[in-house]
Amino acid sequence: MDELQRIDALRKELNQHNYNYYVLSAPTISDFEFDQKLKELQDLEKLHPEAFDPNSPTQRVGSDISKEFTQVAHKYLMLSLGNTYSREEVADFYQRVSKGLDGEPFEIVCELKYDGTSISLTYENGRLIRAVTRGDGEKGDDVTANVKTIRSIPLVLQGDSYPVSFEIRGEILMPWKIFEKLNEERAEQEEPLFANPRNAASGTLKTQNSKEVANRKLDSYLYYLLGDNLPADTHYDNLNEARKWGFKISDAMKVCHSVDEIFEFINYWDEERKNLPVATDGIVLKVNSIAQQEQLGFTAKSPRWAIAYKFQAERACTRLNSVSYQVGRTGAITPVANLEPVQLSGTIVKRASLHNADIINSLDLYIGDMVYVEKGGEIIPKIVGVDYNQRGIDIGAKVQFITKCPECGSPLVREAGEAAHYCPNDANCPPQIKGRIEHFVSRKAMDINLGEENVNLLYQKGMIKNIADLYTLNVNELAGLDRWGETSAKNVMESLERSKTVPFERVLFALGIRYVGATTAKKIANALKTIENIEKASFSDLQAIDEVGERIAQSVLDYFASAENREIVNRLKEAGLQFQIDESTLKSRSNKLAGLSIIISGTFQNHSRDELKELIEQNGGKNVTSISSKTDYLIAGDNMGPAKLEKAQKLNVKMISEEEFEQMIK
Ligand code: IVH
Repeated sequence: MDELQRIDALRKELNQHNYNYYVLSAPTISDFEFDQKLKELQDLEKLHPEAFDPNSPTQRVGSDISKEFTQVAHKYLMLSLGNTYSREEVADFYQRVSKGLDGEPFEIVCELKYDGTSISLTYENGRLIRAVTRGDGEKGDDVTANVKTIRSIPLVLQGDSYPVSFEIRGEILMPWKIFEKLNEERAEQEEPLFANPRNAASGTLKTQNSKEVANRKLDSYLYYLLGDNLPADTHYDNLNEARKWGFKISDAMKVCHSVDEIFEFINYWDEERKNLPVATDGIVLKVNSIAQQEQLGFTAKSPRWAIAYKFQAERACTRLNSVSYQVGRTGAITPVANLEPVQLSGTIVKRASLHNADIINSLDLYIGDMVYVEKGGEIIPKIVGVDYNQRGIDIGAKVQFITKCPECGSPLVREAGEAAHYCPNDANCPPQIKGRIEHFVSRKAMDINLGEENVNLLYQKGMIKNIADLYTLNVNELAGLDRWGETSAKNVMESLERSKTVPFERVLFALGIRYVGATTAKKIANALKTIENIEKASFSDLQAIDEVGERIAQSVLDYFASAENREIVNRLKEAGLQFQIDESTLKSRSNKLAGLSIIISGTFQNHSRDELKELIEQNGGKNVTSISSKTDYLIAGDNMGPAKLEKAQKLNVKMISEEEFEQMIK
């Protein structure tokens, strides 16, 4: 086989593996083998630029090139659906359809209404050529490069029974798990949180850096086929055909012949949807026969042959008592609504996020308003509306976003394109100073034995004003503090001493550069090796690093542009902290654990759990946190949970001790 044939074979094979993994959820090779084949293909494609194919599996990794989206007109209008909220309206719809078809028999297909962002995909000769957002229904944004990173969307179709040219529409989704993790990371970076997976999915799809889109792991469901030569006469059969071409089509689809059957579907899924990995907000009902769909036609806004029944989100109505504003470590301001406590899906809600100034303005809020609070699966309850009818003459003041920092009085700033306001006074605003020190000493950063309370105390006493001051503390000074004593003072001094061996990547993370989380810090440290190189790096040097986009690159430049920050870094260097990658850890890297998924459970003699995780990764393995049949090893420590033990035994996951693990990487 020559190299060009090999390219072709690898592309076919990788497409199949993508499909097995992302559509069927039934992989047949390990992630490691997959990555190796992908790498081989990437290398061959580099050698053969003449064989470039925009639909090659290598094109799914995305690129850093950011470009404005071009607008594309939809061939068929992209309409939305009429909504209903009650069973009566569902029955009314059924009657309307029956009447519109002059009493002719008909079938209704029930489907789940996926709560993401809609997309239109155009395929020609079995290849994805364009992906466009809904936009205003007439024209949308061409987001093809971003959509190509979504693994459940086929770039090249399977079989040969698809029409030469067709369009398929569906929903791009962010699974709950990915959404929660993304928000956790954003909270850590004090970036504004996404309110729900729908916003996260649409925000991601509009991201101008497709590499970042690839990292966000979006998913899809397709539910509507359009074109001149569709394979079947009914919607249901068309979707089943599309499934054979490699599309992800929901199994939750049922052909119904009566209103009762429809209600049965609704009742079942109203409960069962809570177990799905993605968000749904209702049921969609569609007339099955395409001929009957055409007979019924469209109103100006939506088809007469389909309707959406929306599930009732759990909500409560309560009084808005006040709004407070929190200042975080990076100066980001978070508005929080303080509510009259109210019961909502099993918990008592007292506070709700108000997200940002735009959301506050669009709600037109007054203190004393009766507001609707919803939990709809989101992490933090949110205010979704105001009962304006209950607003009397005794209403309080209009809620207006503050213009000055509540802690230090500095005028707030809002950067172009960002939803959040910031206090710019990072050098002197107390919660920012304390927040930076707390971050620096935290376990994942320098792991120094000082909690929030003690940081506060040392700051109040004037003993520390920045992270470098920590290394000027002395044991007598500490021991003299109220309720401290010799032991705790020594303890802190020891942990300060120990922190001088913390590896460079964690020191870089500990500095608290905005948007530079633990993973990014690691990437930057590995790429540039020393703090001097990072200080010298240009915008494009930084952007060339994996996972570093414009925003992070700019933030690193801003950090080192400040004389105060450079001074702090210099003082930390003098104190003896690690400011370059340790060559011995570089050498200790191996591929001994390549392709292996390893879980850690319990406590250990020689290593902390974080150290074990580090060792797994340094040797090419993957540290996973939940056990499955794909887990290769469980490193078992003391006090391992019985549930985990049982699961490991049931799934035949090999259990090893800390010592056995050490042997494996020796
Ligand atoms: S069919 C003309 N089916 O809900 C019919 N839509 O307001 C087009 N949606 O814009 C839509 N799940 O984004 C259809 N199974 C499903 C759906 C679905 C979610 C979304 C879609 C549409 C909106 C309707």
